[in-house]
Amino acid sequence: MFVPEDRPKGWDRIAVSGDFPSGVAAKEQGLTAPDISAVRRGFDAALKEASVYLGATSPNPAVGCTLLDRDGAILVSEAHHRTGTRHAEALALHRAREIGVLDRAVTALVTLEPCNHVGRTPPCSEALRDSPVSTVWVGMRDPNPVAGGGIARLRQMPEGREVFLVEECPDLAETHRACQALLAPFATRISKQRPWITVKQACDAKGSMIPPEGKTTFTSQNSLEIAHRLRRASDAIITGIGTVLADRPRFTVRHVADHEDRAPRLLVVCDRQNRLPDSWREMMIGSGYRVIVSRDLAEIPSLLGDHGVNWAMVEAGPALLDEIADQGLWDDWLTIRTSHEGPDRCSVRSHGPSPLRFILDEGVNPLPADKAAF
Ligand SMILES: NC(=O)c1ccc[n+]([C@@H]2O[C@H](COP(=O)([O-])OP(=O)(O)OC[C@H]3O[C@@H](n4cnc5c(N)ncnc54)[C@H](OP(=O)(O)O)[C@@H]3O)[C@@H](O)[C@H]2O)c1
Repeated sequence: MFVPEDRPKGWDRIAVSGDFPSGVAAKEQGLTAPDISAVRRGFDAALKEASVYLGATSPNPAVGCTLLDRDGAILVSEAHHRTGTRHAEALALHRAREIGVLDRAVTALVTLEPCNHVGRTPPCSEALRDSPVSTVWVGMRDPNPVAGGGIARLRQMPEGREVFLVEECPDLAETHRACQALLAPFATRISKQRPWITVKQACDAKGSMIPPEGKTTFTSQNSLEIAHRLRRASDAIITGIGTVLADRPRFTVRHVADHEDRAPRLLVVCDRQNRLPDSWREMMIGSGYRVIVSRDLAEIPSLLGDHGVNWAMVEAGPALLDEIADQGLWDDWLTIRTSHEGPDRCSVRSHGPSPLRFILDEGVNPLPADKAAF
């Protein structure tokens, strides 16, 4: 139960005021800098934890939750691991109980609005209402009308909780963008019935995508790790028959550890003349892929949406990439360019806050100078 007197000044103002009008800076609400920086730090931890499970949760979203004590210190930070298991909020509360800190949990920071429906797990809004948490910060509203309603339920009296939306706090604009980026794959599928589509393209110093004779790649080890992190985060790969015939790619996650026990990823091969070799198809099935052959590029996004794919990546040659660019069938576009002089360089174009920030932002390759995409 919330006791205002128990808290430092800034936290009182958050919890007691009960409103956080949009467009009003945090400091005008009387919140001190440490208050907001504690919220920001807590969200950073939740985002980082959730990003580990990108590619493991589909058709559910990747979600993170941090619990803070009254001084703004992080007690636990947890994430949703995969469909059918505890949601991030429920797992954070569970862990807090396990390590004996639950009664100190005053604030919950959740990257996505807590669910309010009984699915494979009980509603998170109820789990939070049954906990000592008195204030909840929500990174994004749930775009899924079935699961939404958690904010209203949390506020419902008696025993309502204070709920603040990150989007209404200008001082947390960057945190909101990061929450949007994390949720982009799921939000795209829910709102557009298709996955978020990332094109990954490697070019040599002259701009060619074609590897030298006898090779299937020409980028550095660091760039390969980025590519494999992206594979791990994605639920489907789209490729062209030209790439299959030229390289016989394996499309497995090798340079980083893959998610354990993941449901089979989808592999869509654009092949209009039935040239796909049976032996290669068998090899892909043996590697855990579900192989689909498509004669119509335009049908692929909705087909993947129907299969619950949140994030799809394109690994194809110049012919298919030209078609994808012409038809505008992409959400963000990662280009890895090799150089004669230094390390490979990444650049990103994006139509919205890009989840690539969670793939690239690990200090492996020099990040794009232009961070507008993020
Ligand atoms: N650097 C990189 O990032 C990268 C990545 C992958 C591959 N590669 C290289 O790229 C080379 C292969 O390139 P590529 O251009 O020949 O092959 P590709 O782009 O992988 O595949 C081209 C095929 O896609 C199919 N396709 C094109 N438009 C389509 C549409 N609208 N609907 C359905 N299918 C469609 C066509 O199949 P049909 O012929 O049946 O019509 C076409 O032959 C290889 O050397 C490979 O190493 C480089």
